Amino acid sequence: MSLSNELDTSTKEVEVTTQKASENDALSSRRKFLSAAGLGLGVVSTLPFVSTPVLADEKTTTKTKKLAKTAYGASTAEKEIKVVSLERLQDEVKKVVPKAGFEFASGAAGGEWTMHENRRAFDDYRIAPKRLVGLSWNDIDTSTKLLGLDMASPIMVAPMGAHAMIHEGDERATAKGAGLANTLYCSSGASNATLEQIANATNGPKWFQLYYNNDEGVTKSLLTRAKNAGYSAIILTADALGPGQPENFIAMGSPFRPDRLFGNHDPKMGGKGNFFDQKTALTTKDIEFIKSFTGLPVIVKGILRPDDAKRFVEAGADAIQVSNHGGRQIDGVPASMTALPAIAKAVNKKVPIILDGGVRRGIDIVRAIAMGANAVAVGRPMLYGLGLGGSLGVKSVIEFLNKDLVAAMILSGAGKLADLNPSYIDIVGENAKFNKYNS
Ligand code: FNR
Repeated sequence: MSLSNELDTSTKEVEVTTQKASENDALSSRRKFLSAAGLGLGVVSTLPFVSTPVLADEKTTTKTKKLAKTAYGASTAEKEIKVVSLERLQDEVKKVVPKAGFEFASGAAGGEWTMHENRRAFDDYRIAPKRLVGLSWNDIDTSTKLLGLDMASPIMVAPMGAHAMIHEGDERATAKGAGLANTLYCSSGASNATLEQIANATNGPKWFQLYYNNDEGVTKSLLTRAKNAGYSAIILTADALGPGQPENFIAMGSPFRPDRLFGNHDPKMGGKGNFFDQKTALTTKDIEFIKSFTGLPVIVKGILRPDDAKRFVEAGADAIQVSNHGGRQIDGVPASMTALPAIAKAVNKKVPIILDGGVRRGIDIVRAIAMGANAVAVGRPMLYGLGLGGSLGVKSVIEFLNKDLVAAMILSGAGKLADLNPSYIDIVGENAKFNKYNS
């Protein structure tokens, strides 16, 4: 089969019906009963009689599209999935996606210390919950405003490239899932689909992540296309040399799909330029350039130092994203959560702060918001949801995390995100030492 034939097959769609209204109704009444009893989804989904989480109020039959398999064999699943925790999804997705896709998505740079530290560091931020504060479930408000967007929750999908390594529906399925969950989708400059295709796939808000190209014409064309396609902000990734490649993936010979190139640059898809010709000599002038060229807000992503954050805010950055790229670029840098408090202090609420890296639970979001973040981005678990259930799988992951956040807030004694502050946290261990040194 030629490469172009493979591409054709991968985009062929067949309609299937996944969820019958009557099944939905039955589960809906169980869900309503359990929710009246004060049980959140995390509890519901562990009960034996509920096989898959479904939307309680969905009355109509859900029609979804099923994609044909290609020679590469990425997932074609399209269904809502049962989520017990985001961490458990990694073992489940390993069984259903090609090894190349799993190793590409799940791993990180070098010995993966930073990736694991992203998770471990949360443990140093112990929640000090407030009791008898008169909160009931209906009081919990996870909404926030971010760069002009009204968001129902502070969770967004982090920019990630090459989703066709996981699912034949590529970034279009992920973006669609984010839209179904009314969630901000950040579209990677390294996507397999074009930024226009991705924009069309979601009804939700969207930002575009730029890999700045050495060829200024290519950079300008990407920015113009992003603005025309309706992206409302630009993320400048400042910490990457190209797609991160974990050691297990390199050991396999870096098997990126030959039939799915980088959509924004692929001439067959109307793109131009060399994706790998990325500008490393970035300076604060590039922030100013993106702002003046597009007129859109700019988020600078990949920040781990307070002095950098201050410099970038002074140069006009509209938001700072505390991130180490999920540990995928340089190993040995601190966890995002470790870097957050000093950066929040330096930024001093002048612009919003987004944190990503290891966010898996509602309690992680409580800790990040309490220590100065305004929102969080989630990476790998979104790809795991994609592999296990396509767009509906992504939706399931987001809905689970939203509910987990509500439970974490009521149990922490915080009614709204603005209530959270450092008084809710005791910092211990390595992070206590680090923050003492940096304050
Ligand atoms: C990424 N990330 C990333 N970031 C970015 O700015 N542009 C990109 O193209 C990519 N590509 C990418 C691919 C894959 C497979 C992963 C897992 C991650 C980094 C991403 O935006 C985010 O910083 C981390 O994924 C957050 O960490 P967690 O949630 O995955 O632990």
